[in-house]
Amino acid sequence: MSTNNGSERGGWMRVTLIAGNWKMNKSRREALAFAQVVPSLLPDTGTSEVLICPPYTMLYELQPLLAAAGIKLGGQDVFWGDNGAYTGEISASMLLDTGCTYVIIGHSERRQVMGERDALINKKMHKACQEKLIPILCIGETLEQRKDGKAEKVVAQQLEQALQGLSSQQMDNLVLAYEPVWAIGTGVNASGQDAQDMCRFIREQLKQLYGSQLAAAIRILYGGSVKEDNIKEFLQQQDIDGALIGGASLDAAVFANIVRLGENV
Ligand code: 13P
Repeated sequence: MSTNNGSERGGWMRVTLIAGNWKMNKSRREALAFAQVVPSLLPDTGTSEVLICPPYTMLYELQPLLAAAGIKLGGQDVFWGDNGAYTGEISASMLLDTGCTYVIIGHSERRQVMGERDALINKKMHKACQEKLIPILCIGETLEQRKDGKAEKVVAQQLEQALQGLSSQQMDNLVLAYEPVWAIGTGVNASGQDAQDMCRFIREQLKQLYGSQLAAAIRILYGGSVKEDNIKEFLQQQDIDGALIGGASLDAAVFANIVRLGENV
């Protein structure tokens, strides 16, 4: 098994990305407590890229604390417009203003709970790429779709529609997250092999859309009940370049331990 951290695939250096998605969790006090303790818990000479996507209310205040520990900052969503009458939304420039470099787009909770469709997700992707925010595009099937044998078809469709109209140059920094809906917040993770199979399939689709060089360079994360006891299994897979972590990213000690366990897998 080749090393995941900083290893090569198709001539490209891979850097593992361990991303925490806090979703709608943590008070200001809790978020600050996390940021104060996490630097001392992370490995001193870590090679992985580490990212936290907190609620919007905490972005600005967390930025210097996380940056001091080498942790990047990301938004959990972005709107496609520049500014104006869009009550409740957040723009790419607002995220950039707080120090974000990443943004999650098309998370299954937004698709399922807020009714986001592929066309809207595509507009958000265009905006993020245009503003040089690195999108983490989430795709994944429901349990029903998997049972019906439609998982690959659903994922291919989500991918194609989200990326429609985006050029290879805009794909430079793209990150994908394969998050099977049935594994999110359930404690039931996909097996390493199942996750690998789908991530390989996603890479094949990327190859058809953008060619093999770009397909090899794009990082694909796995998300869905990632924990301390399964992170290694995912990172050992050839086509999995990191993890997008919900519940287990809320505890500083657990999250830091996941980062540590993911080093040099
Ligand atoms: P859990 O790690 O809580 O399953 O959440 C995964 C997720 O949705 C990350 O975006």
